[in-house]
Amino acid sequence: MRSPTPAKITVVGAGFVGMTCAQRAAEKGLAREVCLIDVLPGRPQGIALDLNQAAAIEGVSTRVVGTNEPSDTAGSDLVIVTAGRPRKPGMSRSDLLEVNGRVIVAVAEYVRELSPDAVVIVVTNPLDTMVHLMRAKLAFPARRVVGMAGVLDSARFSWFLAEATGASVLDVDAMVLGAHGDSMVPMPESCTVNGVAARDLLDEKTLSDLAARTRRGGAEIVELLGTGSAFYAPASGAVAMAASILRDERRLLPCACLLNGEYGFEGVYTGVPAILGSRGVERIVELPLSTEARIQMQKTVGAVEADIEALHGLGLL
Ligand code: LAC
Repeated sequence: MRSPTPAKITVVGAGFVGMTCAQRAAEKGLAREVCLIDVLPGRPQGIALDLNQAAAIEGVSTRVVGTNEPSDTAGSDLVIVTAGRPRKPGMSRSDLLEVNGRVIVAVAEYVRELSPDAVVIVVTNPLDTMVHLMRAKLAFPARRVVGMAGVLDSARFSWFLAEATGASVLDVDAMVLGAHGDSMVPMPESCTVNGVAARDLLDEKTLSDLAARTRRGGAEIVELLGTGSAFYAPASGAVAMAASILRDERRLLPCACLLNGEYGFEGVYTGVPAILGSRGVERIVELPLSTEARIQMQKTVGAVEADIEALHGLGLL
């Protein structure tokens, strides 16, 4: 058993994504304490009790605290925000703008006051807009407010590539840039199977079909489940980012970062490869883009900007 780091993690929202984040973070020993907070009385407490009892069997010494009280989150080193509504079949992530925007504003208020040094990972949809709103309300340095989506979208692309090539998913590296929505930008030219270009293993039509399936990756699961949306892979994505930050692993992971001239954009959050370490976003990595990818990046940033305008219209920003 690896001893847990001395960190305190708060997971906001005890829905499926939040409770799975708490489980994965505890089982990986990422913190001495995982505080799981939700507005629903009893739910975070029940999940915490269940996880603490599982700890005896799993050999885990991280303590999980379930609460409805923001004061219990005080002094967190890292906060993962999953609170908010998931999509229903047929809804786009942008349909959640107002209801989830209000949740983000409420969470930002207590994180800013009680955990002023935390790195904050936002998972709530519509992702890029919610992380933008969170950063505006927290007024933390941009390197400490980051969104989880690229890790998830790339993992989906990796799985489809593994299935299509017959190779182990462990050997597949895929990259998806842009917003976490229909406008995301899968990068087939950057995908490899243990160093072999995916383009040398699959024809262009197959690759472009898999990129299209990746774009609809979340919706496919929403439709299959009927109620709720994906949670295992989203939680894995958020916890991989948390691990890279808390253990200063400096992994290069695609995630939603505030761009400051990179890729030609300014003042907007969107998915780009970044090195995550103890200070949060240590470095944004700029990939050379084809003309087509560049056009797609314009579109995806345009979609985020439209949602940000809508937040202004709602009086949330
Ligand atoms: C998805 C949701 C979490 O992509 O956005 O599954």
